[in-house]
Amino acid sequence: MRIIAPSVLSADFGHLADDLEMINRSEADWLHVDVMDGTFVPNISFGFPLMKPFKQYCTKPLDVHLMIVHPEKYVERFCDAGAWSVGFHLEAVEDPLPILEMIRKKGVRTCLTINPDIDVKRLVPYLEEVDMVLLMSVFAGFGGQKFIPETISKIRYIREEIDRRGLKTLIEIDGGVNTGNAATLFAAGADALVAGSAVFGAKDPEKAIRKMKE
Ligand code: DX5
Ligand code: ZN
Repeated sequence: MRIIAPSVLSADFGHLADDLEMINRSEADWLHVDVMDGTFVPNISFGFPLMKPFKQYCTKPLDVHLMIVHPEKYVERFCDAGAWSVGFHLEAVEDPLPILEMIRKKGVRTCLTINPDIDVKRLVPYLEEVDMVLLMSVFAGFGGQKFIPETISKIRYIREEIDRRGLKTLIEIDGGVNTGNAATLFAAGADALVAGSAVFGAKDPEKAIRKMKE
């Protein structure tokens, strides 16, 4: 699968509807929604009020990435706000299983995420419990950072673990993705790529999306 999920974090919020229309027209598969709380990560982005226009103006599924402490307090509200998938960080919680269950009960797809400094092996026990794992290829918190090359061997490792078990769990990569490295990431076994600045910062964002899918 070659899924591209532009991160709305890098959109022009003064012209949000225009940017979302561009996404609708484009070959993008999902809209990636980065929620930051200023505690789990040293940055604050946006929360529930923006789920409304995302839902209203964007025809693509909303792939919600929670970079927050206590995701158990909020996952259901994001589901009710129209999320197509909800992901949270494994390192932010003690036991992800009950939180995954809360999301699943809402009929929404589940995703577990880890930052680059978390051992990728920690995801393995949950591969059968989730629809998707998200490997951060930069430290969560900001768009526009440089891709961490060590991510590639982690993709290969988790791809093998998924395939060996005959699972359909998707692998998503987030951070520093661009037209130059997308093909390598897909070849390593990624299913979905998040791209913020490489899409919204491009002269021709639709072309950038198309190129990443090639
Ligand atoms: C980082 C976010 C990413 C970010 C990606 O904390 O999770 O989704 O928006 O931005 P780029 O593609 O610019 O690295
Ligand atoms: Zn993200």
